[in-house]
Amino acid sequence: MSEMANRRGAFFGRRKGHRLRAHHAGLMADALPRLRVPQEGPIADPARLFPQAVSDVWLEIGFGGGEHLLAQAEAHRDVGIIGCEPFVNGMAKLLAGIEARGLANVRLHGADAMLLIPRLPAASIGRAFILYPDPWPKRRHRKRRFLSDATLAELARVLRPGAVLRFATDIDDYAAWTLARVQRSADFVWEAMRADDWRRAWDDWPGTRYEAKAFREGRRPSYLTFRRR
Ligand SMILES: C[S@@+](CC[C@H](N)C(=O)[O-])C[C@H]1O[C@@H](n2cnc3c(N)ncnc32)[C@H](O)[C@@H]1O
Repeated sequence: MSEMANRRGAFFGRRKGHRLRAHHAGLMADALPRLRVPQEGPIADPARLFPQAVSDVWLEIGFGGGEHLLAQAEAHRDVGIIGCEPFVNGMAKLLAGIEARGLANVRLHGADAMLLIPRLPAASIGRAFILYPDPWPKRRHRKRRFLSDATLAELARVLRPGAVLRFATDIDDYAAWTLARVQRSADFVWEAMRADDWRRAWDDWPGTRYEAKAFREGRRPSYLTFRRR
């Protein structure tokens, strides 16, 4: 089976955690259907998913509790951000954050990002974030990792020339895994300026819940920035 056929529509993580509080359950029932991107068929123009004109469309894959997505959406209210996250409790938390901040520039996909990305038009996304994807450290589980030659090729298709892909991980092996795939792809360049660049968080980086746990447990993150050729 090809890497893509193996991955497509496959989500290996946890979909549900603790039972949702009443307010969060209400948001899942009322707000999510309004903010969800169409679940099937091609999306002709992602910019038109938003109620107002947007200057660009960004994509976050696996936003977890949404700390980063909310910070970006608040700092860039002119940009439309599509967030993908199959974990229901994360989605509910993000919806509460959108409501609290009054954000109109977020749209959501509550499933495997690879069920959405192939439906986006070529060169339609200006920035993509993959921040602490599930690490799958055991050798026999590595094929479950989100980043693969096939997903990278799909990301290359939807990112416009000059667009940026940001990738963070606290697992050294996953950083090396990703660099190996980017380096054999003709579509991206790694934007390292200084020798220790990958140890420095981005200037606008708010941190995430997963990252805080990694620091507490003594792991050092890698922050990789790739540019679409
Ligand atoms: C380790 S967590 C990190 C969450 C968040 N980015 C952070 O830094 O706190 C990885 C997240 O990716 C999500 N995820 C895993 N596979 C995914 C996929 N195929 N598409 C979208 N999200 C995915 C998981 O549900 C999980 O919430």
